[in-house]
Amino acid sequence: MQDDARRLIAQHAQTAKLMGVDFLPLGNVPAALAQAASASNPTEPTEPTESAQPGGPRAPHAPPSFESADQPGVSPISADDLQQTYAHLGDPQARLDALRGKYEADAPHQHFNTQFANIVFGEGNPQADLMFVGEAPGEQEDLTGRPFVGRAGQLLEKMIQAMGLSRETVYITNVLKTRPPGNATPTSRESALCKPYLMEQIRIIEPKVIVTLGLPATQLLLKVSSPMRSMRGHWHALPTEGNAEGMPRVEIMPTYHPAYLLRSYTEENRRKVWSDLTQVIDKLGEASGASRVR
Ligand code: URA
Repeated sequence: MQDDARRLIAQHAQTAKLMGVDFLPLGNVPAALAQAASASNPTEPTEPTESAQPGGPRAPHAPPSFESADQPGVSPISADDLQQTYAHLGDPQARLDALRGKYEADAPHQHFNTQFANIVFGEGNPQADLMFVGEAPGEQEDLTGRPFVGRAGQLLEKMIQAMGLSRETVYITNVLKTRPPGNATPTSRESALCKPYLMEQIRIIEPKVIVTLGLPATQLLLKVSSPMRSMRGHWHALPTEGNAEGMPRVEIMPTYHPAYLLRSYTEENRRKVWSDLTQVIDKLGEASGASRVR
């Protein structure tokens, strides 16, 4: 990131903090968003609030447990196997492309129930300081092959812009790379099978901060089963899973999923999300002094 850009972000952060939650206007909700907020949205995942019921029937949007990722049957691929596919490449975008090719060849989604037209691997700056990790592609994402382009994505984009950034400067991806039937919440087994690819995306991009959007991404990356209310708003270190070589030191800020925010569009929730994002702006500002130029 260039000095001018950093200065602009710092200025913007200052202004935004003074103004409050300006990316989601308080008391002045645009018609489209107000509608979105009041309508239930079957194409977007819900924000699970409770812990999972392991072994129980999988209700739509049932909250998963990530406490134990070990499942009978197929094992997740090893980090070494994935790294072999891109380690010889220097350019981060070329590395991501090679990793995507490996994902397509392995097709971990063949081992679970999915219904997709396109793989949604992720997009954005391959050297981004900031990465967003959501849950799984929805209908619009599946149709376009791009993450977060539906209504939740439009809200995410507003949040990113309010931070003084753009979609192109960050990297956006999901835990699952294919759409779950009925937008069901990913199970722990599905997430475990896809996690190695997500971890290699992180290793390649080397973000300073990851914002996890919602419970599945938060619990998967942090390897916890705590509820969102105790996780969001606080910094967490990314556990490196015993394969720390080349893994950047990444700090994670969990926040509510934009689809949840659309459904529970209260001033309190908007303030919470904005408070989480302003912490991210501050952290990126602090880190920028010592960071490489991006
Ligand atoms: N919800 C997600 O979690 N990811 C997307 O890409 C879109 C909606």
